[in-house]
Amino acid sequence: MSTPLVVAVDGTSGSGKSSTSRGVADRLGLRYLDTGAQFRAMTWWMLSNDVDVHDADAVAAAADKPVIMSGTDPNGPTITLDGTDVSREIRTDEVNGSVSPVSAVPAVRARLLELQRGIIREALTGPGIVVEGRDIGSVVWPEADLKLYVSADPSARATRRAAEVGSSDDASIAATKASLEARDVIDSGRTTAPLVQADGAVHLDTTHITLEQAIDQVVQLAVELTSQA
Ligand code: DC
Repeated sequence: MSTPLVVAVDGTSGSGKSSTSRGVADRLGLRYLDTGAQFRAMTWWMLSNDVDVHDADAVAAAADKPVIMSGTDPNGPTITLDGTDVSREIRTDEVNGSVSPVSAVPAVRARLLELQRGIIREALTGPGIVVEGRDIGSVVWPEADLKLYVSADPSARATRRAAEVGSSDDASIAATKASLEARDVIDSGRTTAPLVQADGAVHLDTTHITLEQAIDQVVQLAVELTSQA
């Protein structure tokens, strides 16, 4: 592909958007940015520094302090906080339970928006980037060449997420489903940059398709787009 490409992938947790985004970036030779990991790193910093995540003023006052860096290789994305790898810490239940209120704070979003746009601009000096999150096609990069809105049935999402962490019994799936749905409500209902299907986004429902099929469909859309250009 000759002109740099930005692919914006938004959707709910567990919809398959991360695996699809990484697979697409790998197949097309693009960089990959997981913006959810940045919100998670911000949340881990708040928890580690005893900031009350439900006190929006306290979170806003601290939002400029953490130094968050994202590595954008789709085959080994990294996330560091103040120079330390936090890829494991950001996937804990503690962070799952606190990331939505932290993400709803406008100062947090403004700080990470600046970071995200900087990474996208840098990727545009190369082949381009696949960026995944909740507000990429609507707020972060509305001029993206291709926008996707990825969804899946809540039970399918919970089953996949529970399997990812190695707990596929009924109780774990039910708990995962409740946690995902609680986050969806906050992420979709917040005032600043809520999760929405962006204008011009293609809806990809992954409930009944495999990961390979999802990747194929997006790659096909990108190839059609670049052959029209
Ligand atoms: O994609 P994820 O589940 O790792 O995202 C974690 C949280 O981060 C999610 O509940 C909402 C927030 N988030 C956001 O508000 N905006 C983004 N662009 C990405 C994630």
